[in-house]
Amino acid sequence: MRWTDKYRPKAFKDIIGNGKQKKEIEAWVENWKNDIPQECLLLIGPAGTGKTSIAHIIASNFSEFIELNASDKRSYDIIMNTVGESATTQSLFSNERKLIILDEVDGIHGNDDRGGTRAIGKIIKTSHHPMVMTANDFYSKRLTSIKPKCKVIKINKVHTNSINALLKKICKEEGVIADPVAIKELAKRSNGDMRSALNTLQVIADDSKKLELSDLDTVSQKDNTNNIFDSVRRVLKSKSIDKIKKSMMLDEDPTLVMEYLAENIPREYEKPEEIKKAYEMISEADLYFGRARSSRNYTYWRYATDFMGIGVALSKEETYKKFTRLTGSMAFALMGRTRGKRALRDRIAEKMSKKLHVSNSVAISMFPELEIMFENDELAYEIASYLDFDDDEIKRFRNRKIPKKVIKKMEKRKLEEKAKTKVFKESSLNVAIENKDKTEKTSQIEKNTESENLKKDKKKKYSVKSENENKNNNQKNTENKDKKEKKETAQKSLFNF
Ligand SMILES: Nc1ncnc2c1ncn2[C@@H]1O[C@H](COP(=O)(O)OP(=O)(O)OP(=O)(O)O)[C@@H](O)[C@H]1O
Ligand SMILES: [Mg+2]
Repeated sequence: MRWTDKYRPKAFKDIIGNGKQKKEIEAWVENWKNDIPQECLLLIGPAGTGKTSIAHIIASNFSEFIELNASDKRSYDIIMNTVGESATTQSLFSNERKLIILDEVDGIHGNDDRGGTRAIGKIIKTSHHPMVMTANDFYSKRLTSIKPKCKVIKINKVHTNSINALLKKICKEEGVIADPVAIKELAKRSNGDMRSALNTLQVIADDSKKLELSDLDTVSQKDNTNNIFDSVRRVLKSKSIDKIKKSMMLDEDPTLVMEYLAENIPREYEKPEEIKKAYEMISEADLYFGRARSSRNYTYWRYATDFMGIGVALSKEETYKKFTRLTGSMAFALMGRTRGKRALRDRIAEKMSKKLHVSNSVAISMFPELEIMFENDELAYEIASYLDFDDDEIKRFRNRKIPKKVIKKMEKRKLEEKAKTKVFKESSLNVAIENKDKTEKTSQIEKNTESENLKKDKKKKYSVKSENENKNNNQKNTENKDKKEKKETAQKSLFNF
């Protein structure tokens, strides 16, 4: 059991710190109990400071409650259907109030953003029920319209001394022999995040029943000895959770690590199901990185790194005993590291791949050639209009805008030639594609021979194995033959990917 669950505060007195805030909240509960309606309560504070715990303690004072995580139920409709109804109708069997908890309201994101906030605004306005909401970011845009309608209570980071005291108590209860200096250091490093303090303590001391200062080094946030390739290799090559977790602690942009992983998964993993699963993990990680960015709540990075580290690592059935040359994204180096640039790169590649019938990576590898072609105004215009580039996309390949004069001239010419020529055919572009095609084909042939050999190898191994089986089980000969055939078909289908 997670210690954060085991030691989750059950009453206001168990909540550490935020004494003044606790008093206000208790008064709020009392007033509701005395049938004096109160404003919606909005608890705002950093991760792991007890907001959700407080909401649950409040709930224990009401006969019924309904809880929703705002970031899961995004759309206006869903929020209105699930919360809206219970917000306006009284509980069926009693006159008692029903508490509504909306957790992480600043986590509502994406297109439904406004719908979600509007729904919350409406619920606050029409609800006759007590309502508690929690959020991390006081300055979140999503809260601008909500804040004035609520009683806002700022929950502060838990003080280091208080964390220190709780950690000591838990060590005692769990029979952990702990160096007081180490506890103090752990309390300090958790930076007011009680959840992280408890999690770290459990990771270190649950089995070993001891905590020393040196233990903290193994879980320290940054470890500069790891480089990206070591981490990627470890994730792909190993299934040891501890090692993977450690290798994910590196002084690099984690989204960059994700890119490298994504690029190298199919180089290492061979089975389609493994590749599929690994990519699903990558997309989960990407989702959490997005969440971290949009909510500016970087605790989501932890989940993201778990998905891309442990998730990808455990997507394979067994580790492969082969040497794989990992690649560092060439396109990535070209495009720089910022996400905006990457998004632009992907958008352009997508357009090119549709129009030119090449893969996205081939499209990206053509960028340098495009840069050269874009130096010429007329050519730039033609390519851009053929590929349907917008201004930003054009700017990727040339600094200056295409002069209006040139655009006019080209448009006129286009009209004139419309009858004869349908689309732009740029020979150098075609040559470029042909060249790419050739190199792709050659490498494909190489790959095919490689996998052909691999196939043969595997078949050989298998047949040796099944021959032995046959020898051992003479009576079951026919049965074995059947099995062999089945297995062989299964083996083949793996390579059809
Ligand atoms: N003030 C506190 N006193 C005692 N324990 C706490 C406190 N804050 C957090 N914890 C511990 O951390 C765990 C997680 O806390 P909780 O879920 O309430 O945090 P939160 O503020 O809602 O965080 P988030 O913003 O990430 O949702 C609790 O189960 C509890 O073990
Ligand atoms: Mg919470």
